Amino acid sequence: MSLTDLFQADFKYNKLSNAEIINNRRVINGYDDGLMQVSPLKHPWAYEIFETMIKNTWVPQEIPMQMDVNQWNADNVITDKERRVYERSLAFVSNLDGLQTNNLACNIIRHITSPEIILAITRQTYEEALHVVSYATLVEALALDPEQIYGMYRTDKDLYDKNQIVLKAVSKIADPAFKTGTFDSDQMFLEACIGNIIIEGIYFYSAFLIFYVLRRNNKMPGSAEMIQFINRDEDMHLKLFIHISNTIKEEQPELWTPEFQQRITDNIKDAVEMEYQWGASCVQEGILGLTPENLREYLQFVGDVRLMCLGLPKVWNSQNPFPWIDELTQGSMIEVNFFEGRVKEYQSGTLEW
Ligand SMILES: [Fe+2]
Ligand SMILES: [Fe+2]
Repeated sequence: MSLTDLFQADFKYNKLSNAEIINNRRVINGYDDGLMQVSPLKHPWAYEIFETMIKNTWVPQEIPMQMDVNQWNADNVITDKERRVYERSLAFVSNLDGLQTNNLACNIIRHITSPEIILAITRQTYEEALHVVSYATLVEALALDPEQIYGMYRTDKDLYDKNQIVLKAVSKIADPAFKTGTFDSDQMFLEACIGNIIIEGIYFYSAFLIFYVLRRNNKMPGSAEMIQFINRDEDMHLKLFIHISNTIKEEQPELWTPEFQQRITDNIKDAVEMEYQWGASCVQEGILGLTPENLREYLQFVGDVRLMCLGLPKVWNSQNPFPWIDELTQGSMIEVNFFEGRVKEYQSGTLEW
């Protein structure tokens, strides 16, 4: 039963006490009158994530871009290859955040029956929209050709293919007639939630890495700072969907069959390989020390972290070839771990270098 159905069917006097209503709350398939009572809470982690997201508030207009503009316009600072990698990365992350904004708003929220989780996903949706604006801010600041960035997927076959695969993955539950409440549809929804972890926690990562590699070489520092803010938001989104996925597993353990675990492992393996193919097509034989080989190792390391967050065994046992990235992500990237509960959280709208 969808939220709308519940609202229409149940918005009337009923005999449940408030405590019973809260105690019956579930991530999906729970009782929900649509009135968003968020005190007291059944899923306090969602409210805590929401509060952290509020503390993380920032706007792209605050980021100083003058150095980037100077470097971009100079003849001898950013090489042609670096420009191409920058533009391709920007085009991809912009496409991905646009897609994610719509995915959350249209496919995910309507099936959630815990108001505190709806609160957090609503904030996340706003942040994805803010990220779309952030990329537009970069396009404007550097006076890039919008046709070249936003239209890139029409001429760049690799980007087109990548967008298609992401879109296909999120579209599985996009049918307006899709409803949770059966074994198969609940598994599909859980797979979609883990698909979100793949979007947030794997697909963005080669692009983020490219901006950080440029920054480490004193190139395009404003862009990298923008990406740091976005990365900090993405870490909270990851934390949110790791909690959502693991709580669905706790509330409906029958969904987590060995076959389903294998499917999820395969999805993560496919995502790492696809992200590698994309990243390798960007860096080609290498750029500023970033090579296809260390990119693959890095993405496998990230893939293992995502598997572990879901209680699944590692596949690759790769090491992080870029330990310096901790300085740029403030150590947060590798610490989003549901089971260890050691997520780095931030308390202000500023970043420390
Ligand atoms: Fe985003
Ligand atoms: Fe996100």
